Amino acid sequence: MTTHSPVHVFDAYGTLFNVHAAAGVYAGEIGPQYERLSQIWRTKHLEYTWIHAQTGRHISFWTLTERSLDYAIASIGGVPAGVRGRLLSAYRRMAAYPEVPAMLARLAAQGHRLAILTNGDPDMIADAVESAGLSGQFEAVISVAEAGVFKPDRRVYQLVVDRMGVVPSNVEFFSQNRWDIAGAHVFGFRTVWVNRAVAPDEYPDMAADQVVGDLTAVGG
Ligand code: LAC
Repeated sequence: MTTHSPVHVFDAYGTLFNVHAAAGVYAGEIGPQYERLSQIWRTKHLEYTWIHAQTGRHISFWTLTERSLDYAIASIGGVPAGVRGRLLSAYRRMAAYPEVPAMLARLAAQGHRLAILTNGDPDMIADAVESAGLSGQFEAVISVAEAGVFKPDRRVYQLVVDRMGVVPSNVEFFSQNRWDIAGAHVFGFRTVWVNRAVAPDEYPDMAADQVVGDLTAVGG
């Protein structure tokens, strides 16, 4: 590692971990609206973080995981008994996307410093890292809980600078969330948008430095 090699920092949910896997596993019980349930769950989860950040009322990400799932369940007219609990359990033991372990191993072998920066509560992200078999891969697993506000508040991105002792321009930040890329860009990170959903680009004045479809080629 040289002092000039960038610190690689990853968003967690949706970037390293497949947030939509759980609904797929229980598709048979949820029924034909399982994908809609998963989309509403994710969309509402994020909306709740923005509103809590904007209003200065910080709350645990886990509480918002539950509230957004309840909204999604109500939106599709309900799910069979027991499914809510199974979906929440699955959220805590989330699989990484298939290319992630090899990508991280490759970057580590090249001497890069690796970290996670997530809205997730410390215990949630610890569970996800462990269940995905990624324990020990990261120098730092940083939760917004330390800042007491959700992304994209700049105090969240500042946590990376403070914890890892780097200047923003020496951070390469990966996120599947285009709005998170916008926040990281404004803060001064170099940004890589992981556009898994092949979504149209947005926030033209807060552009990503690079766009990839997934993490397969990172460090290759
Ligand atoms: C995270 C969410 C925003 O991990 O994906 O921070």
